[in-house]
Amino acid sequence: MKPASIAAQGLGWVDEQTRAIAPPIHTSTTYLRDPDNQYRSGRIYARDHNPTFDQAEAVLTALEGGHASLLFASGMAAATALFQALAPGDHVLAPKVMYWSLRNWLMNFATQWGLRVQFIEMNDPDDVRNAVQSGKTRLVWIESPANPLWTITDIALTCEIAHAAGAAVAVDSTVATPVLTRPFELGADIVMHSATKYLNGHSDVLAGTLTAREDSPLWLRIKSIRAQMGGVLGPFEAWLLMRGMRTLFPRVRAACDSAQSIAERLTQHRFVEEVLYPGLPGFPGHAVAARQMHGGFGGMLSIRVRGTKNGTVTGENAAIATAANVQLWKRATSLGGVESLIEHRASIEGAGTPVSADLLRLSVGLEDKADLVADLEHALAQAHS
Ligand SMILES: Cc1ncc(COP(=O)(O)O)c(C=O)c1O
Repeated sequence: MKPASIAAQGLGWVDEQTRAIAPPIHTSTTYLRDPDNQYRSGRIYARDHNPTFDQAEAVLTALEGGHASLLFASGMAAATALFQALAPGDHVLAPKVMYWSLRNWLMNFATQWGLRVQFIEMNDPDDVRNAVQSGKTRLVWIESPANPLWTITDIALTCEIAHAAGAAVAVDSTVATPVLTRPFELGADIVMHSATKYLNGHSDVLAGTLTAREDSPLWLRIKSIRAQMGGVLGPFEAWLLMRGMRTLFPRVRAACDSAQSIAERLTQHRFVEEVLYPGLPGFPGHAVAARQMHGGFGGMLSIRVRGTKNGTVTGENAAIATAANVQLWKRATSLGGVESLIEHRASIEGAGTPVSADLLRLSVGLEDKADLVADLEHALAQAHS
């Protein structure tokens, strides 16, 4: 089966007993022990096992081409479980441009707990070569395209450098999704998703995932961290996530198509200073993106809004006013849902953000792309009137 068929049919799951083609939701928190004191079902308690997870985990594993997957209560729960599986004193490389909340957690919590976290330009292989410490760096964290500048990191090359130094590589592939990039084929060891975004796709489930390329002591530790620390998904959310994943391919393909058109159109707009989108030939990283992303460059882009020529309105004010004037786009954080979202990113990231004040982040949904362009152009014009 091709990946799109795997997703659409949820791996062809059918209930043996009832012949139902939609899976049930298992709410039980505990499982019956056999009279001889064994647990032959392999399930004991819901913090370790829930059958509602099985299909979503198996489908994701198949889509990524990995060994196994785990669902978590959120993307942050998934990512932090991986970092917690490392030991105090371990050296970790992370990108300067990455999802801000995880960057904050790495700076504030991971370092207090003893991880030695170094932030580098992950999209610059020389920076990776200079920073990696042979035998000491345990993990290199990649996000590609990276929030919210959509910086592209060459996953294959970074894996080569990291592996030569004995480090594992994890990829936050939330924005690329398994539709566009399969990091294991490029050498990665772990793939992470905020399943809150494209995997679920309807802005109604908070969830996260980790997938491992192969079984390893690190993966075993991650599994026991999930079971012991309890950052597991609820059964209803797991069921909704599986339902959302069935339409992953058409949703992502449509979002890519619209994002590409919107990016090209806005490149020529007089009130737009710069369009950041990996699908634009002039975008730094476009050539790498064209190599490692297949079938599109993602549904996320950012624009930097121009101020007025006479300087009475700054780029920052014009960006905030543009977001204030949209009617169709929803002014909200997050990404990867069916509805298009617009966000003044610097306002949410606060002090220390690498994001310029004139930047708007756009998550392109499934509305008619002509409507989306018209709404943005109207809002840009209003902001400059
Ligand atoms: C790229 C990326 N990684 C991780 C996360 C964190 O995921 P969650 O919000 O599901 O905890 C987000 C959330 O916005 C994200 O955009």
